[in-house]
Amino acid sequence: MNILVTGGAGYIGSHAIRQLLEAGHFPVVLDNLSYGHRNTIPNNVPFYHVDLKETDRIAEILREHHIEAVMHFAALISVGESVQKPLLYYRNNTAGAVSLLEAMERVGVKRFVFSSTAATYGEPEEMPIVETTKQQPINPYGRSKWFVEQILRDIAATDPKFGFAAFRYFNVAGASEDGTIGEDHQPETHLIPLVLFAAMGKRNNITVFGTDYPTSDGTCVRDYVHVNDLVTAHVLAVEALSDGDARFYNLGIGYGYSVREILDTAKKVTGKEIPTVFGLRREGDPAQLFANSDKVQKELGWQPQHTDIDEVIASAWHWHSTHPNGYAVS
Ligand SMILES: NC(=O)c1ccc[n+]([C@@H]2O[C@H](COP(=O)([O-])OP(=O)(O)OC[C@H]3O[C@@H](n4cnc5c(N)ncnc54)[C@H](O)[C@@H]3O)[C@@H](O)[C@H]2O)c1
Repeated sequence: MNILVTGGAGYIGSHAIRQLLEAGHFPVVLDNLSYGHRNTIPNNVPFYHVDLKETDRIAEILREHHIEAVMHFAALISVGESVQKPLLYYRNNTAGAVSLLEAMERVGVKRFVFSSTAATYGEPEEMPIVETTKQQPINPYGRSKWFVEQILRDIAATDPKFGFAAFRYFNVAGASEDGTIGEDHQPETHLIPLVLFAAMGKRNNITVFGTDYPTSDGTCVRDYVHVNDLVTAHVLAVEALSDGDARFYNLGIGYGYSVREILDTAKKVTGKEIPTVFGLRREGDPAQLFANSDKVQKELGWQPQHTDIDEVIASAWHWHSTHPNGYAVS
C-alpha cells in the first residue's frame, strides 16, 4: 500500500517507516523538520519538507504517489508548552490535521490512522482506562488531539467510504532493535530518556515529582508501551481498515511501572548510579495511568511483545549509549 507518513522524521514515525518497509508497503514521508531528523529516513523513501498547513502541496503529493492511506504522526507534543502557547497547539495539531484531511478529501484518500493520546482522558475516574472512559483532557495538548478525534467522527458520519483508526497512546518508550534509531526530542520531557541521561552524566540528576501518591511505593505509575509494538498496531490497522470504520483504541500494555521501578531498572540495566532528587507532586499528574487494551488485542490481533520493563529500558539504553547526542553529529 502507498502510505503517506506525516511526522515520519520523528521518534515514532521513523520506527513506523521501518516496519512499513518490512511489511512490503511504500511509505512517503512528510515532515516540516521542526523537531524531526532528516537522517532517520532511508534513502529509498521519498521525503517532503512540507508543513501540515500546506494543503495544496499535500494534495499534490497524495496524487503524485497514488497514496491510499495516511498515518498521521506529525504534531507538537509538549504538554507544558501547550499550556503556555495554546494557539500554537491548536493551529499545529488541530488545524494542521484539518488541512491534511482537506487535502485527502480533495484527492479521495479514504484511510486515516491517527496518533491520539491518553492525555485525552485527563484525570480519569476509573483505572484501567477503557476506550469508553470519559474523556476530559486537562491541557491544550490533550484537547488539540481530542478535537481531531471529534472531527474524524464527523467526517465518518458523512462519508461512508471514509475509514479511520485513532490510537490513544500511553507512554511510548524504547528504540529499534539494532539501536540505530531512537528517541531524540529537544527538549526531552519523557522519563526513561531523562533517567538514562542522568546515568550518562548528560544531566546532573533526575527529579522524582511526588513520593506520597497512593501507589505501592508512593511514586506515579505509568503504562510504558514499546515503540515497535505501538507501530505494529498501526500497520495492523492500516491493513484492516474498511469503509465506514471509526475505530478508537488504547495502546498500552495493560499495567504500569512506578517511577521508582524505572529508576531501579535503569540502574540495573546501565550499571550506573542515577543521582535522584525527590521533589513535590506536579499539578495534573494522576497517581496511576494504565490502559485496558483488550479492544485492540481482540479486533486487530495486536499483542505487545516487549512488556518486560528491563527489555524496554535496555533497548532505549542501546540507542542512547551509542548516540549520546542523538542524531546530532558531533
Ligand atoms: N512519544 C509519546 O510518548 C507519545 C504519547 C502520546 C501521543 N504521541 C503522539 O505521537 C505522535 C508522534 O510523537 P513523537 O514522540 O514521534 O514526536 P516527534 O516530535 O518525535 O515527532 C513529531 C514529528 O512531527 C513533525 N511535525 C510537527 N508539526 C508538524 C507540521 N505542522 N508539519 C509537518 N511536520 C510536523 C516534527 O518535525 C516531528 O518530526 C504525535 O502526534 C504525538 O502527539 C506520542
